[in-house]
Amino acid sequence: MPGSNSVQKPLLEVLGGTVRTPPPVWMMRQAGRHLPEYLELRGRAKDFLDFCYSPSLASEATLQPIRRYGMDGAILFADILLVLDALGLDVRFEKGVGPLVEPIETASDLTKISHTKAVDRLSPVFETVIRVKRALPAETTLIGFAGAPFTVLLYAIEGRGKTDKSTARSWIYEKPTEMHAALMEIVEITALYMKAQVEAGAEALMIFESWAEGLPDDVFRELVIAPNAELVARLRELDVDVPIIGFPRGAAGMLAPYVAETGVTGVGLDTAVVPGDIARNLPEGFPVQGHLDPLLLRAGGERLVARVRELLAAYAGRPHIFNLGHGVLPDTPIPHVELVLKTLREGN
Ligand code: CP3
Repeated sequence: MPGSNSVQKPLLEVLGGTVRTPPPVWMMRQAGRHLPEYLELRGRAKDFLDFCYSPSLASEATLQPIRRYGMDGAILFADILLVLDALGLDVRFEKGVGPLVEPIETASDLTKISHTKAVDRLSPVFETVIRVKRALPAETTLIGFAGAPFTVLLYAIEGRGKTDKSTARSWIYEKPTEMHAALMEIVEITALYMKAQVEAGAEALMIFESWAEGLPDDVFRELVIAPNAELVARLRELDVDVPIIGFPRGAAGMLAPYVAETGVTGVGLDTAVVPGDIARNLPEGFPVQGHLDPLLLRAGGERLVARVRELLAAYAGRPHIFNLGHGVLPDTPIPHVELVLKTLREGN
């Protein structure tokens, strides 16, 4: 490894429990449609899956926001639904509709393809990681990721993302055995997939539980906390020792139990989080990441600057990675991202 391990990486330091001022920063969906250079690159691939499986295009897309903004974290360019594609389900990304997945009926619909074969089908992603790692500045942290088991399964059960999620949620009441078996299938393939990302060079991992919102507390424990804890434990069993950021979006009152019981190293906060609650409910010194509203980033102006300062002040004594509460919206003006970075860097 060409010397990169000896350099201080702010993002990794914070995940290790160090308070840094100003905090390191990156933004969910920092690579993607708000960047003209991404749109140009995207036009070169047949479709979005093809783009994700092309190491030259995906590595370039990962690096674009690093070059433009000097972010402290580079998020691997891929998608949480690649795992379902690798398991042999038909996954498509329709323009204006979002992802479409061939719906499953039973957990056994996830066992058509062996885990070894599925990980092998994901090998272009590992090649992307290798290429990005080689090109990244020494102080930048490469973050690998996957969807959390319930969020990935939700797409497989519902067949699409924009639904009321009631079919997937009902499985836990109406066919709990299938639900648990299906979750465990996703846990195992995801652990193998993330381990391979780390072997290729990922230095931190993030688990996206994007659809945790609105679950009753007992169901949240079964669908979110237990499978996330299983995934983290399985990764540790596989000797993956990098920090793991969990992002239980919409966890609300279940955030503290999520932090206490899953074994994650740090937690991504969503837009609805109240800073005072974090101070009261999360252990002192536990690393947090978040949680500027992407709509405010898109709107810009003085209110944006004021809120960035407010968030900085709120987490001043805690290991904090500055980020959004959800992804950058496609129509976000580049100067607004630059304004956030300027505010962060000058403020201290
Ligand atoms: O900078 C980055 O974060 C890039 C890597 C990345 C993508 N998807 C690229 C992408 C990551 C980390 C994801 C994760 C992802 N994918 C999540 C979890 C995070 C979240 O937003 O909650 C989810 C739920 C998905 C599923 C998914 N993929 C959806 C709902 C969509 C459609 C979104 C839309 O606005 O059309 C995708 C497609 C997708 N994934 C795009 C990108 C850049 C847009 C596709 C395109 O360029 O045409």
